[in-house]
Amino acid sequence: MEFVRLLLVFLHLLGMSLLVAMFFVQRRAGADAPLNKGWLHGSALQLLTGAALYGLMPLTHADYNHAKLGVKMVVLIVIGVLAVANVNRKRIPTWLAPTMLGLVVLNVGLAVFWR
Ligand code: HEM
Repeated sequence: MEFVRLLLVFLHLLGMSLLVAMFFVQRRAGADAPLNKGWLHGSALQLLTGAALYGLMPLTHADYNHAKLGVKMVVLIVIGVLAVANVNRKRIPTWLAPTMLGLVVLNVGLAVFWR
């Protein structure tokens, strides 16, 4: 079971990197570009791996902070809603990508500093 937990953490960290990378991909695409679908894929990966880590708690014997995971889930839902609401637009508002990056960084901060 420890291997499964580590595999999920591995994918969870790759999902985080994907979301951070999406900010730079989005910037490179320019102000007239639509939202890159990678935002949706990264958010979905974080949701699946995070929820699986949480759900497997009884089997992995991990001891997670429930309040922290609840707040991380809310932040991720905000990122997901922003992505879904803008994915079909021809061009996205200028504040969108920096805001979503800020929320991703907020979740990294919560993950690391809130014990
Ligand atoms: C943008 C969204 C998210 C980001 C960037 C993110 C980032 C991270 C990072 C950097 C860690 C490693 C922390 C450390 O080991 O010190 C972590 C761990 C973890 N995250 Fe997330 N997370 C996100 C969403 C979620 C969600 C929605 C959940 C589930 C409710 C979740 C559940 C977990 C769990 C359970 C761990 C601990 C894994 C372990 O060490 O066994 N995460 N997250």
